[in-house]
Amino acid sequence: MDFVEISQIVEQRREELKKSESLVEVIDYGAGSPNENRSSEQMRQGITLELPLASLASIGVKREKAQQIFGIFETLKPKRILELGTCCGFSSAYMSFFAPKAKIYTIEGSPNTAKVAKETHKGFGLANIEVLVGRFDKVLPELLENISPIDFAFIDGHHDKVATLDYFRAILPFMAKDGVMLFDDIAWSLGMKEAWQEILAQKKHKKSQDFGFMGALWL
Ligand SMILES: C[S@@+](CC[C@H](N)C(=O)[O-])C[C@H]1O[C@@H](n2cnc3c(N)ncnc32)[C@H](O)[C@@H]1O
Repeated sequence: MDFVEISQIVEQRREELKKSESLVEVIDYGAGSPNENRSSEQMRQGITLELPLASLASIGVKREKAQQIFGIFETLKPKRILELGTCCGFSSAYMSFFAPKAKIYTIEGSPNTAKVAKETHKGFGLANIEVLVGRFDKVLPELLENISPIDFAFIDGHHDKVATLDYFRAILPFMAKDGVMLFDDIAWSLGMKEAWQEILAQKKHKKSQDFGFMGALWL
């Protein structure tokens, strides 16, 4: 399947979910909105919200970002993929279509959201994605030990400066020698802009690319 066919299939599921009138109870361990300034304790405890499924389905990687990931995969050909932030399962579905032989591990803190993602994957018949339910900082230590070396890591949740730098430091030692780390929403807030600059300043990469909203590091 080429990129256009894949994006048509994935975006069709998004359009179906966007027509839904149901509400989903979600636990949000993330940073909320750019100026919300949630405390680390609020993010650790999580905030319970009831959200329309239609709004949840609007979140995440769509055609343009998917195409950038597709471009990276064409040369990287990743076999082990880690994603922080599953949401409704769209980005993991894209990655699964792009790399059908890879194993994808994706973490989602909100159990009901993870359920929607699993339905997305099942509906597409994608069997190479494992959705792990829990807070990133709780799931990562054991997962990283078990799945390394990671060829591609996509950090797409908890857009907080300190948290993003913590995830970078935690994941880096488990990356493959020539792996790629991709950070979404590097311009989402002042904190995320600073986190991206600090990550670049650590010079752990051979090459970096700023896609505007996403930043990639080739290690
Ligand atoms: C931007 S969405 C992910 C979108 C998805 N990657 C896509 O493109 O389809 C971020 C997700 O990360 C989850 N999340 C945020 N902070 C988290 C944390 N600290 N632990 C676990 N999950 C978290 C949220 O519940 C949300 O579903």
